[in-house]
Order: sequence, then C-alpha cells, then structure tokens
Amino acid sequence: MPKVAISGKGGVGKTTLAGMLARQYAAAGVPVLAIDADPDANLASALGVPAEAAGTLVPIAEMKEMIEERTGAKPGSMGAYFRLNPKVDDLPERYALKHEGVRLMVMGTVDRGGGGCACPENVLLKALMTHLVFRKEDTVIMDMEAGVEHLGRGTASNMDAMIVVVEPGQRSVQTALQVARLARDLGVNRCFVVGSKVRGDREREFIRTQVAPLPVLGFMSYSAAVAEADLEGRSPYGSDAQLEAEVQEIRHRLEALA
Ligand SMILES: Nc1ncnc2c1ncn2[C@@H]1O[C@H](COP(=O)(O)OP(=O)(O)OP(=O)(O)O)[C@@H](O)[C@H]1O
Ligand SMILES: [Mg+2]
Repeated sequence: MPKVAISGKGGVGKTTLAGMLARQYAAAGVPVLAIDADPDANLASALGVPAEAAGTLVPIAEMKEMIEERTGAKPGSMGAYFRLNPKVDDLPERYALKHEGVRLMVMGTVDRGGGGCACPENVLLKALMTHLVFRKEDTVIMDMEAGVEHLGRGTASNMDAMIVVVEPGQRSVQTALQVARLARDLGVNRCFVVGSKVRGDREREFIRTQVAPLPVLGFMSYSAAVAEADLEGRSPYGSDAQLEAEVQEIRHRLEALA
C-alpha cells in the first residue's frame, strides 16, 4: 500500500489532490489514512468533513496529557529525561476521525524553530510517522505544508513517494525542483509531479518540459466547479466528473510506479 507525501508551492492544489486521492481510495475499499501535516490544517474540509466535526479535532502535537503519558515528560520540557521510543501503534485507531471511509489524523505544529529540537512532542510525532510508514495495511496520504523549509524536519522521511504539485508558472516549478532535491536526502524513493489548474495543452507541455526528467503522473485541469466548491466549504471530491477521472488516472499511475 503506497505511502505518499504531497508537497509543492503555496496554493497550488496540494490539499485538493490529497483530499480527492484519499476519498477515491476509500471509495475503492482501500484502507486509507489521511495525514494533515500542515500547521495551517485544512485537509478535513477537502475530505468533506462537516465543519462541526472538524472543529472538534485536536492535533496530535497538542494532546499534552497523551504526550506526557507516552513519553514520560511534559511537552516543551527540553533536556528532561523521556522515552525515545514511546508507544504509538494504537494512536491511529484512537485519534483518527473517520469520514466516508477515510481516517484523518491532524499532526499539528511542532518545531517551528526548525532546529530539530528533541522535545517530547517531536519525539512522539517522529515515532508516529515512522510507525505509519511501516504499517503494511494502510495507504497513507500526507498533505504537507507549502514550500521547502519544513522538509528539513523530516516529517516525510521514508515515505515511498513524494508528489510535487506544480501549477503552470516558473515559481511553482522552482519550488518543485527544490522539493525533489530535498526529498532524496529524506530517503523518499520516488518523486513525481502532478500538474495542477492546467488550462490546455500548452500548459501541460510547459510543465512536462520544465520539470524534466521528473516523471509527470498526470494533470488536474482548472475546474470552476472545484473553485466554487471551496467557496462554499464543500469537498472537491464529487464536484467535477472530469477532475475525478483525472485523479483516478493519477492514482493508477502512482500505484504502477511507486
Ligand atoms: N484544479 C483546480 N481548479 C480550480 N481551482 C483549484 C484547483 N485545485 C485547487 N484549486 C483551488 O486553489 C486554492 C488552493 O488549493 P489548495 O488548498 O488545494 O492548495 P494548497 O497547495 O493545499 O494550498 P496551501 O499551500 O495553502 O496548503 C483553493 O481555493 C482551491 O479550491
Ligand atoms: Mg494545503
């Protein structure tokens, strides 16, 4: 079962792709775990989780009592003694929110300083990510923070594949190339591109040429229906049949290549 991290420049469509992929896997009867690794978490809405339910979600990094119970130290307590291998294997069952067959976990903000601090909450999140990557039974779709700075924190370490979402435009391409370089250092086996918000063949060709030799898994067309769904707080899943078919093709190519 593939474990995929989705990254790219801000606003390109990472969360839209993550939400649609996760819903498609669930609809196909595949056990899927959607991980929101963006501190500005909004994968729930892309999955179609009603706002009231999404509002009750507590990010793992903010579960202070659980973190203390598992690591033996209070979150934020640097330099204290704590377990470096906390028990995490029951966390997905305990804390994932279930919606239409997708299980969603929200990681929350950690290590904003970027110094890789060894505080209890970071140790717990790292242990959890490692556990998820090696769990055979689940497909994992991780929606990441925009840009490249956070990649140094290693949240995506050892995922099977990184999908970099690219809009037609030089800046988005530049970020994608940087992500691809950093992904290799994280031990991510494969790096793929998905073109997003494309309007026609000229833009498809632009993306293919600019990201070469990175393989392009497929393209998501610009969709007025998806933009409209976002305005109304609805999931992009099920709002545009053509986009649905495009994401399905992306999914099949991912399974064939990852
Ligand atoms: N194929 C598409 N057609 C039209 N609009 C789209 C498409 N994909 C995404 N959008 C719109 O672009 C905006 C950004 O999308 P999304 O939140 O998925 O991007 P993101 O890369 O996750 O952003 P962030 O960097 O803020 O996390 C949203 O308003 C979304 O509805
Ligand atoms: Mg996003």
